[in-house]
Amino acid sequence: MDFRIAQKTADSKYELYIFDDETKVASCSVFTKEEAAYVSTCLNNEFSLVSINRLTKLLLVYIVRPKKTDYETHESCRKGGAEVQGLLAKYKAAEVAIVNHSAIGHAAIYMAEGMVLANYQFLKYRSDSAKRKAQLSRIIFAKNAASLKDLKHLKVITEAVYKVRTLVNEPLNHLSAVQLSAAFTQMGAEAGFKVTVLNKARIEKEKMGGLLAVNYGSQQPPTFSIMEYKPKKCLNKAPLVLVGKGVVYDTGGVSLKPTLNSMDRMKSDMSGAALVAGAMYAAASLELPLHLIALVPATDNRPGENAYVPGDVITMMSGKTVEVLNTDAEGRMLLADALHWAKRYQPELVLDFATLTGAASVAIGEHGIVCMGNADDLTKKAFRESGHRQYERLVEYPMWDEYGEQIKSDIADIKNVGGSSGGAITAGKFLEHFIDYPWMHFDIAGVSFATSRKNYSTVGGTAFGLRMLLDFLMHYGKN
Ligand code: BES
Ligand code: MN
Ligand code: ZN
Repeated sequence: MDFRIAQKTADSKYELYIFDDETKVASCSVFTKEEAAYVSTCLNNEFSLVSINRLTKLLLVYIVRPKKTDYETHESCRKGGAEVQGLLAKYKAAEVAIVNHSAIGHAAIYMAEGMVLANYQFLKYRSDSAKRKAQLSRIIFAKNAASLKDLKHLKVITEAVYKVRTLVNEPLNHLSAVQLSAAFTQMGAEAGFKVTVLNKARIEKEKMGGLLAVNYGSQQPPTFSIMEYKPKKCLNKAPLVLVGKGVVYDTGGVSLKPTLNSMDRMKSDMSGAALVAGAMYAAASLELPLHLIALVPATDNRPGENAYVPGDVITMMSGKTVEVLNTDAEGRMLLADALHWAKRYQPELVLDFATLTGAASVAIGEHGIVCMGNADDLTKKAFRESGHRQYERLVEYPMWDEYGEQIKSDIADIKNVGGSSGGAITAGKFLEHFIDYPWMHFDIAGVSFATSRKNYSTVGGTAFGLRMLLDFLMHYGKN
């Protein structure tokens, strides 16, 4: 998408006018008396978008009704943007100009964000992709509606969302662990961060027992990707480390996933990996003054002749032993090794993103992320605020000692499942065994993949959580 600021927007065939009060339409010089009267008859509380067809030009009027909080109002703008995108797609409009006549600061940017996110497509496997391709390719902002810096942010962030969604949408037969790592290398070359990929031999040498155990049943080798972005000026003294679960497909292993359809979306079990790589891409593209490292342990999880089985005891990279009682609890096995690896950086903060438990998804559904960790209150508050600003909200779960009892093993240090209750938390308690630094864990199982289109969230990978994380990084170290 091309974003521009124009001196005058009147040359565009499609123009969007944003208002926060329908009575202001009548006093706006753009519209004739008849048009303003038409708009006011069209508008009622449920109807926010009105189009006026001047034959040579289509004028769109969007009324944003201010909500109780700013963040909800901004979200209304994003949703409105998705609605506008839907209409423009029907007209096959290539370009739209946005004028903000509301008192809502950045309303044009929020609406454009919703438009662009809703305009995402995954056409790689369509033979008629040329015919299906979205026409919208340029958004023009009226002077005063946006600054160049706003546009740069919007461009980079939406591009990062697109990249993450596309990685998630790629099926296993086109995205093995090796191919995922190659995609990171490509992203690093584009945006300017370093990518090192450890191959199977190196992973064996490092004794990453958790990652190797999950990989035993696979026909394809695992990888461990290390991405690093270190600009000359950094606000953080020690690195911030991101960790992403890179299970390129999760069959459950020999504890094969049971119910009907439960594997349909399991190509998306690398959403955490895609998300952290997307964050590196955006951070480097925006040249954020932060030293960042991202780690992705990757493999598929499937039954095979050599697959790990319930009862196996695995020695993890940290030296801890794990009794495997369900091979479908594989995410924590490979994340454990990555979290252990992160200790070498003596990091300021470690953040992991993982489609870790169905329990998180069952508990809060598709509207938020379950998080937990030992980071300080200021960090947690910053995350809450970023979650609200980006409308990718967080719910913090407790990590009380009692939950830790549930993963005690009879024969090893811990076991990889904690029973039928508190599943999202016992998974977090498992990870806690492998950290010695401030850390937050984000369980994105409920939000990373959508089976239907909703507002600006398209079918398939959502990249949910990425904008929240980037918002956090952009505010990091500034207060
Ligand atoms: N990848 C799944 C979690 C998941 C479930 C993600 C649904 C997205 C949608 C994870 O590896 C898993 O299988 N977790 C198990 C853990 C259990 C065996 C302790 C689960 O949640 O059932
Ligand atoms: Mn699993
Ligand atoms: Zn999984």
